[in-house]
Amino acid sequence: MIKSIVVSLALAFAAVSAAQAAGDAAAGKAKSSSCAGCHGATGVSSNPMYPNLAGQQAAYLEKAIKDYKTGARKDAMMQGMVGALSDADIANLAAFYNSSK
Ligand code: HEC
Repeated sequence: MIKSIVVSLALAFAAVSAAQAAGDAAAGKAKSSSCAGCHGATGVSSNPMYPNLAGQQAAYLEKAIKDYKTGARKDAMMQGMVGALSDADIANLAAFYNSSK
C-alpha cells in the first residue's frame, strides 16, 4: 500500500517536471531578440565565432544557459546575456531554438 503511494507520487513528480521542461517556443522567439545579434534570428549564426543553436537539443540548451548563469560555464559574452532570464524564459528560449531550423 505505502509502496504504491510512493510509486504514484514519484510518477506524478516525473510528469510535472516533464511538463515544466517543455518550454513555449513562441514565447521563446519573442524573448530571443537580444540573442539574435550573435546567434542569428533563427539560431543560425553568420559569425564563425558564435555557435548555431537551431535544432539543438532543448535540454542541452537549457543546461548551457543555466550554467552560464551560475558560472559553472564561463564565457564573458554569455555571462552578460543570461543574468536577467527566469527559468521559464530559459525553457522557452530552449524550446524556440530546438524547434528552429
Ligand atoms: C554578444 C554575442 C552573444 C549574444 C548577444 C548571445 N550570445 Fe550566446 N553565445 C555567444 C558565444 C560567443 C558563445 C560561445 C561561448 C562559449 O565558448 O562557451 C555562446 C554560446 C551560447 C550557448 C551554448 C551553445 C553550445 O553549443 O553550447 C547558448 C545556449 C547560447 N549562447 C544562448 C544564448 C541566448 C539564449 C542568448 C540571448 C539571451 C544569447 N546566447 C546571446 C555569444 C552571444
